[in-house]
Amino acid sequence: MSESIKVSPLKKISGELAVPGDKSISHRAAILAGLSDGSCSVQNFLPSEDCVNTLRAMGQLGVKYEVKKGTEDRPIDLVIHGCHGKLRAPEKELDCGNSGTGMRLLAGVLAAQEFDSVLIGDESLSGRPMGRIIKPLAEMGAQFETKGKKPGCAPLHITGGTLNPITYEMPMASAQVKSAILLAGMFAPDKTTVIQPAINRDHTERMLNSFGVKVSTEENTISVYGGQKVRSRDLVVPGDVSSAAFWIVAAACVPGSRLLVTNVGLNPTRTALLDVLIRMGAHIKDHVQHEDGGEPRGSIEIIGRQLKGTEIKPCEVPNLIDEVPILAVAGALAEGTMTIRNAAELRVKETDRIETTVENLRLMGGEISEFEDGMVIQGGQALKGATLDSFGDHRIAMAFAIAGLFAKEGSTTIKNTECVATSYPTFTEHLKEICNR
Ligand code: S3P
Repeated sequence: MSESIKVSPLKKISGELAVPGDKSISHRAAILAGLSDGSCSVQNFLPSEDCVNTLRAMGQLGVKYEVKKGTEDRPIDLVIHGCHGKLRAPEKELDCGNSGTGMRLLAGVLAAQEFDSVLIGDESLSGRPMGRIIKPLAEMGAQFETKGKKPGCAPLHITGGTLNPITYEMPMASAQVKSAILLAGMFAPDKTTVIQPAINRDHTERMLNSFGVKVSTEENTISVYGGQKVRSRDLVVPGDVSSAAFWIVAAACVPGSRLLVTNVGLNPTRTALLDVLIRMGAHIKDHVQHEDGGEPRGSIEIIGRQLKGTEIKPCEVPNLIDEVPILAVAGALAEGTMTIRNAAELRVKETDRIETTVENLRLMGGEISEFEDGMVIQGGQALKGATLDSFGDHRIAMAFAIAGLFAKEGSTTIKNTECVATSYPTFTEHLKEICNR
């Protein structure tokens, strides 16, 4: 039977919370530690289905690892024994589950291997566009065949081999595409360059540098020289600010709330949500306390206030792309209008997040207009409890669980919430804790 989350209205939220490890950084840690030239201790790995699938794929490619804390299915602290850049052919398909990041980053690495491989995913991932990575990786010399029901979609058959370096101007501000090219570029001779249309998450660049692979970034041009050794190192993964976002919005929107999120990633290419909430009138202060593998981490203090709507700037969109569903909820709880445009990328996430956010907000009584590239939300409407679907999308499930907490009347049920385990396996426990404080 499928899982569901039921929430009843809550007056405010308070206390302290640490969220699990960062999803983007955990994928990259599994891949780079796996390619490195020694053993790497990786602490606070995100024990979610998405990241475990990437770790298992690296295992099928010959990388050995030991779980030091957590379980085989839910590893938290690991030692990953790098394969010195020498992966072996997998015996069967590599299953990326629900994860676009896993599939696209692994494709970058596999494009450069002297063996064939096949990447598969669940129904949602099998409907997501892979042409965006196939185009540059094929230009580098790898061969791809997509065998999905939809053209250009997984299963993705890769015939890897010797690659040429390229200079590639990315049509969209995608960290996954950028990362696939940079990872492939590590195996090509000379210099591979990606030009991005706007700044987006830079974890790959930071982690490559911290593993000894020099990557240069000049404004929107990022280059890597092939043939560099991936040096083993230990690292601690910060908490995922995209998971923290649900609690940050919950606390920021409701006067009287007070929350401290600890040990969370504060990479500036991920924290545009904080800037937007501050512009909406929130009291938010972040403090960087550590830096590990080039990734700052620390705490975020939030005091709730009545917020006002705002317009999201085009340059902010890539740096809060995963936070749009919860930001739309913030817009509904704020006064005035919230405008989110230039965000057509949302249509090719785990679900079409413009459609799924609009549908659920309307079912709760929200007033929201849909556009091809975004949405406009009229705030100040009393939300009412409703029965909603996650549509199999983890961020939709969690965003609307939070919306349900602040409905003016009635409880809210979100159906099909197993998907939450792809990014935040302890979400329902944290929700219970917060509601019982
Ligand atoms: C991610 C990049 C983003 C984001 C995804 C994780 C990554 O996707 O939505 O959840 O780890 O590189 P795009 O790069 O396709 O925008």
